[in-house]
Amino acid sequence: MDILGELRERFRTALAGLTDSPNPLLEMIRPAAEPKFGDYQANFAMSLAKQLGRPPRDVAADVAARARLDDLCQQVEVAGPGFINLRLRSEVLATTLAAALVDPFLGVPRPAAPRTFVIDFSAPNVAKPMHVGHIRSTVIGDALCRLLRFRGDRVVSDNHLGDWGTQFGMVIYGYKHFRRPDEYAANPVAELSRLYRLVHSLIGYHELVAELPTLKQTADDRSAAARRLADQPPASDKAEAKKQAAAAQKALRQAEEAAKALTEACEKRASFESRPDQVALAAQHASIGQAVLDEVVRLHAGDAENLRLWREFMPHCLREIHAIYERLGVTFDEELGESFYHGQLADVVADMEARGLTRESDGAMCVFLEGFDAPMIIRKRDGAFLYATTDLATIRYRVERWKPDAILYVVDHRQAEHFDKLFAAARLWGYGGVALHHIAFGTVLGKDGKPYKTRSGDTVGLEGLIDEGVRKAFAVVQENDDRKPDGSEFTAEQRAQIAETVGVAALKYADLSQNRTSDYEFSYEKMLALDGNTAAYMQYSYARVRGIFRKAGVDSATLLAGASGSIQCEQPAERALALALARFPEAIAESLADFRPNQLTVYLYDLTRKFSSFFEACPVVRAESDELRRSRLLLCELTGRVVEKGLELLGIRVVDKM
Ligand code: ARG
Repeated sequence: MDILGELRERFRTALAGLTDSPNPLLEMIRPAAEPKFGDYQANFAMSLAKQLGRPPRDVAADVAARARLDDLCQQVEVAGPGFINLRLRSEVLATTLAAALVDPFLGVPRPAAPRTFVIDFSAPNVAKPMHVGHIRSTVIGDALCRLLRFRGDRVVSDNHLGDWGTQFGMVIYGYKHFRRPDEYAANPVAELSRLYRLVHSLIGYHELVAELPTLKQTADDRSAAARRLADQPPASDKAEAKKQAAAAQKALRQAEEAAKALTEACEKRASFESRPDQVALAAQHASIGQAVLDEVVRLHAGDAENLRLWREFMPHCLREIHAIYERLGVTFDEELGESFYHGQLADVVADMEARGLTRESDGAMCVFLEGFDAPMIIRKRDGAFLYATTDLATIRYRVERWKPDAILYVVDHRQAEHFDKLFAAARLWGYGGVALHHIAFGTVLGKDGKPYKTRSGDTVGLEGLIDEGVRKAFAVVQENDDRKPDGSEFTAEQRAQIAETVGVAALKYADLSQNRTSDYEFSYEKMLALDGNTAAYMQYSYARVRGIFRKAGVDSATLLAGASGSIQCEQPAERALALALARFPEAIAESLADFRPNQLTVYLYDLTRKFSSFFEACPVVRAESDELRRSRLLLCELTGRVVEKGLELLGIRVVDKM
């Protein structure tokens, strides 16, 4: 049973006739901030009293009486200005937990009407190796799939691969001009990624050189402006002088920023030019940027050679990313990349044109959208289609094929404007019936507060990141094992296995435990800490539960089959744990309300801490009576299951021993 849901239903009935819109009021029934206020608190009486023009305490007392809570609550109390404090009956906790113990869904109610979701996540550009930026979309998207499926919804997970864009132009160009045949034959993935990086860096160099005069000009202008303001005689009026000083400060800051940007660019250039071989290559390939775009155009136009190369490269690229998904334990129902939609793009434009939704501007085909300054371009002047055109085709395809209620796009927040426009264009086009959500997320930062990069300034490859996480986890597992009072218990192979699980889990959990819209700082030390809100701590708590069962010499099946007798919640720590366990359905609902898996980690952290306090305060194996021992073992069992399930929903595996 979802206790909070049930309380809200009771109050919904009680509010009938008092208000026309009960939902915002019912939202104000929340878990109590502190145990002394009970288990739950209803804080709506103050707003309702305003609507009704009556004293809030009277309204609170009235509604509380009408809600008929006797069977659920042992105490319903009006406090302060009109809070309703609710304390559940212990029997209610006991029966809720007993039901959860025999329910594969651990008490989470099935939806009356399941909905269909398409979840677009991960979606790397496959011509280059996956990097740290891809971890967020991949693990958040996967967690949302698992959570929605668990709740009973239908989910189609679709990896919208970037398999048709500029990156392939780079690899094709690189292959034609710079390939090392022996290396390619021996390890095509490594060679393709070298080619990608080489072409990328040559293009970057040319762009940098082209940009330098502008950077220099800006730096000069700003420095002159700053000097001018600094030299100005101060105004006699005090307020005016203050304004002047502020403007001078601002100009100085801007001048410093511009100077810094220039210095950085010059350093980058110097570093590139310190290698004569690179300089020679750059000179030989002076218009490489345009040449790469030409390769893309040829590929899209069906050029036989480029298409052949694309077909040859794709399996290698896919093998590379699939190996990473395998390690992360992430799977997809579909992998319909951008290339899949290529043949549909002309028709998308034609269809929108026929419906009168487009207008030509400067040779480009545009959709003008209300509320946006710039239109959405769906066909360029040279006839090329765009990222947006593909996304429109994708919406049409998904709606026709799966008839979803909602499509979720788990994509970097920097694409927010793209999705705002895309969704507006889709509605205009007639796809208003499907809910479209951009599930945005922030950036992974390094210790310096800037996007996480290697020391040399390159993006951090995802595979290397996982390897490093597992290596560090191995050290933690080893140290922990070495320190065991009865001597270490694992073979080297077991340690390695545990380290793989713990290392991958640490990476995923560190990401999932962040509010997705915030940036977060990447730190192996923090993510592998054995205490705090980390995967290692959750896995440790789970292993501890299993340890209790080993010590008690009982297995879960025998325990559950054993003589009945209800769960007891006499001790405060016992009751607090029972309440936390009963709130698992709330945690699931909360995580899905705004698609924030971190809500589940908040819950799991709270639960494991309550478990820890319970375990310290209440003897389990040595409980005073057999009934109490059984009751406490049942609490342990359910804790283990909820932690295991909670982690599974985050895509994280547990270990029996750590
Ligand atoms: N491949 C894109 C990128 O790396 C992300 C695609 C997201 N999904 C979408 N339907 N646009 O930026």
